[in-house]
Amino acid sequence: MAPPSNRLRTAILISGRGSNMQALIESCRAADAPAEIALVLSNEPDAAGLSLAAAAGIATRVVSHRAFADRAKFEAEIDSVLRAAGIQLTCLAGFMRILSDKFVEDWRDRMINIHPSLLPAFKGLNTHARALAAGARIHGCTVHFVRPEMDSGPIVVQAGVAVEPGDTPDTLAARVLQAEHRIYPLALRWIAEGRVRVQEERVLIDGVSAPLAPLLNPQP
Ligand code: GRF
Repeated sequence: MAPPSNRLRTAILISGRGSNMQALIESCRAADAPAEIALVLSNEPDAAGLSLAAAAGIATRVVSHRAFADRAKFEAEIDSVLRAAGIQLTCLAGFMRILSDKFVEDWRDRMINIHPSLLPAFKGLNTHARALAAGARIHGCTVHFVRPEMDSGPIVVQAGVAVEPGDTPDTLAARVLQAEHRIYPLALRWIAEGRVRVQEERVLIDGVSAPLAPLLNPQP
């Protein structure tokens, strides 16, 4: 089957390893994938994800924040690269730069992020260690539309991961990462299928009204 001709042109912004990027790229290989990864952009020239993307035949760009006098100029360059590539949706996947309110508003409802916690709990860094320190029984990950306040915005999908006795931040992170690799492609598919709406800062997904029970403790 030929891929749909009107696939959503999607960019992924990374800074490092790129495992979520890889999951998104792989999911878009499906013949019926409603999105295509048209560009991977990194602010770090040495990001491992860049070579993975290139090996997958995806166009890559480096826009190093170090090359710009200030955040506004750095973001203006990213914006122009995205627009020149005809990008309709931007996925942040381990992109480690804070984005200004202007950039976020310019891409409002057209930019999503994955965060390794069940938001609104544990915004920011070191989420797994903090979940363990708090004695959380259920941890997980969230895909959300990006808003100016860091790690906030309408939630598209979440996966819960049970905290096991003896978990360390690393063992917990590894299981959460498996869940991330399931829910990020799912969110992209739903959005690209045109089934996702933001209404009063909550996400409505046409055709997904039942509880997503399988997403609790997803198996690899
Ligand atoms: C992931 O844990 C993601 O949730 C967070 O940054 C990490 C990126 O990992 N935002 P990778 O580069 O996708 O492997």
